[in-house]
Amino acid sequence: MSKQFDVIVIGGGPGGYIAAIRAAQLGFNVACIDEWKNAAGGPAPGGTCTNVGCIPSKALLQSSEHFNHANHHFAEHGIEVKGVSMDVAKMIARKNTVVKQNNDGILYLFKKNKIAFFHGRGSFVKAAEGGYEIKVAGAAEETITGKHIIIATGSNARALPGTPFDEVNVLSNDGALNIGAVPKKLGLIGSGVIGLEMGSVWKRLGSEVTILEGLPVFLGAVDEGVAKEAHKAFTKQGLKIELGVKVGEIKNGKKGVSVAYTNAKGEAQTLDVDKLIISIGRVPNTIGLNTEAVGLALDERGAIVVDADCKTNLPGVWAVGDVVRGPMLAHKAEEEGVAVAERIAGQHGHVNFNTIPWVIYTSPEIAWVGRTEQQLKADGVAYKAGQFPFLANGRARALGDTTGFVKFLADAKTDEILGVHIVGPQASELISEAVVAMEFKASAEDIARICHAHPSLSEATKEAALAVDKRTLNF
Ligand code: FAD
Ligand code: NAI
Repeated sequence: MSKQFDVIVIGGGPGGYIAAIRAAQLGFNVACIDEWKNAAGGPAPGGTCTNVGCIPSKALLQSSEHFNHANHHFAEHGIEVKGVSMDVAKMIARKNTVVKQNNDGILYLFKKNKIAFFHGRGSFVKAAEGGYEIKVAGAAEETITGKHIIIATGSNARALPGTPFDEVNVLSNDGALNIGAVPKKLGLIGSGVIGLEMGSVWKRLGSEVTILEGLPVFLGAVDEGVAKEAHKAFTKQGLKIELGVKVGEIKNGKKGVSVAYTNAKGEAQTLDVDKLIISIGRVPNTIGLNTEAVGLALDERGAIVVDADCKTNLPGVWAVGDVVRGPMLAHKAEEEGVAVAERIAGQHGHVNFNTIPWVIYTSPEIAWVGRTEQQLKADGVAYKAGQFPFLANGRARALGDTTGFVKFLADAKTDEILGVHIVGPQASELISEAVVAMEFKASAEDIARICHAHPSLSEATKEAALAVDKRTLNF
């Protein structure tokens, strides 16, 4: 007889492993299946985020930022360093260690929460007596059954038609995080989140970086003022970003990659690079789930169709994270995982899509929550805006990092915060205050009247809230 569980989670990324932990906390007998392999063929739970996404990219961003500081900013502090060099192999090895620490941490959490972990691919099979079972194909093959199934199989990098990833010259996020030596010339297609983060890493390490973007506007989903400020900063750093291009034929040869494209003026151009990263978005991953056998509904993008509660069209089958609609973010996947486990337990799990923060971990960092100024205009909402530059913040000056600003958007009548947009130092940390404020439906005045430590970057948040009412104190 097959092993029986209350809850089976397919996928051990942030959506899956967090759902498994929450379900176990709620007293369920839980299994989690994940197929990711480490270099030795062993289990490496944590999904895209841990293995080839959030965590390794932040490790490389940190290393490259240290290198950049040593080269360009130590001197102004009176620190003289000579002969700064980068051992790329060591940087990559450190990144791999950080990844492994996270993999091991998740394996420990499975044990701690008494979750049965299966290393292999999970797929639906039709059961003889009707319904379905889950086949696990790993070192051995076995079939397990669960009263509830949570699918959290994530996403894969989107390839350009006719240009497969070889992960040697034409790279997805996977190869982009494993380049063995600083490429002299690096090309990227897509100036979205991965394009900017990975472009920044290799630019800081000395590559000549060109990003080709199809849209005529830079970071179209970001608040216009923030996008403009960030574009200025990236251009100053030497990132070459060409907007409004149309990418044509890509030739991947022994000497590198040649990209034919038309620029915004309609002129034919060629970009010759040593490595090309393609970062044009990601596609939901249902490969190998055998969804057809059980009639699991997918939409036209290949995402699993779910309702607001993450229920699929099959009874007892739920789906969360990148494989369903909504932003492809680790924390969104986690929130959905927790909410689904709680709904299975009869509780009222909830995800507030209006307060999901976004962060781009470049320098300056970009972070936001809620609606942008252009969205409020398009929605016809009467709003007030307040902005405060880091240039006028004492802590930012002491840090030597005064690029950017904090911007508040509040309802013109009620003063409720509708959006907060930050470009500048530690934006990734500063945005949390805005998320909490919006979750509690705070007004700009609420933040303006809260005592913030001095000197701290968070004072820029308070001042931006004061700016909504045109009463900044330090600007
Ligand atoms: P995944 O993390 O993709 O996990 C899915 C897991 O399921 C994988 O381990 C996969 O092997 C496994 N799986 C798939 N099918 C099967 C099957 N049939 N059987 C068994 N196992 C299966 N998000 C952020 O919030 N912050 C960031 O800083 C950030 N940085 C990123 C950087 C990069 C370069 C990339 C590519 C992404 C980044 N993301 C970031 C996005 C983030 O990684 C995803 O949103 C997140 O991983 C989604 O979680 P998930 O659990 O839905 O899927
Ligand atoms: P993206 O959606 O952020 O950006 C893709 C960019 O490519 C867009 O600007 C798009 O206009 C452009 N593009 C699409 N097709 C093109 C074409 N044919 N030619 C030229 N340009 C084209 O996708 P990206 O950067 O691949 O990242 C995928 C997802 O991973 C992100 O949307 C995000 O959800 C997640 N992620 C999150 C991070 C974070 O939270 N810090 C970091 C990295 C990724």
